[in-house]
Amino acid sequence: MKKIVVLISGYGENLQAIIDACQSRYINAEIIGVFSNKADAFGLQRAQSAGIFHRTFLRHDYADNLAMDRHIGDEIDNLGADLIVLAGYMKILSAEFTRRFAGKILNIHPSLLPKYAGLHTYQRAIDAGETEHGMTIHFVNEKVDGGAIVLQAKVPIFPDDNITDIEERVKTQEIRFYPLVIKWFMDGRLTQKGDGAYLDGNLLPPQGYAVDES
Ligand code: GAR
Repeated sequence: MKKIVVLISGYGENLQAIIDACQSRYINAEIIGVFSNKADAFGLQRAQSAGIFHRTFLRHDYADNLAMDRHIGDEIDNLGADLIVLAGYMKILSAEFTRRFAGKILNIHPSLLPKYAGLHTYQRAIDAGETEHGMTIHFVNEKVDGGAIVLQAKVPIFPDDNITDIEERVKTQEIRFYPLVIKWFMDGRLTQKGDGAYLDGNLLPPQGYAVDES
């Protein structure tokens, strides 16, 4: 059975969707570790409830970011993970870490990358008068939110929407499609080569596999 480690910082709704998808065998793999950089992340309780090994890595226990990432990387190697899934992990990974696990790290980001990399994507989209927003699942490289895009899903922004309205719409798409992309990876259908993401041996377009419904 292939193995997944999930990195989280918070609520863990994506983590829960992945736990459920592994338990139902929709994803042909098991989560063998959930690591958090926040001691109070609710996702840790989700891991506990599912009987999954979990632990916290706190930045202040390390001399610098690199030392922390090296320790996390060593633990991931000890567990023998085939894939690292970032599910709301709100800490930038060092270049060394991304190179060490190149082609084996997926991230989910609440915007239609390359638009709105970084934080506060909902507010920035509203402020810019956007009429659509969305989410992106991508491989992770050294550039923050910059790796090869696997899949994007769009949602509308209506004139009277607040952040919560858009966030709920985006979350619905995240929970729906992150398990699918992880399933592709575990079935050997999704790979990263160089700067590209490949599905069934075909190079995906720069914006990835587009899901255009809401
Ligand atoms: C998700 O919406 C994810 O896209 C976002 O954090 C949320 C985590 O929610 N990730 C980022 O902003 C990464 N830059 P969750 O903990 O309930 O899954």
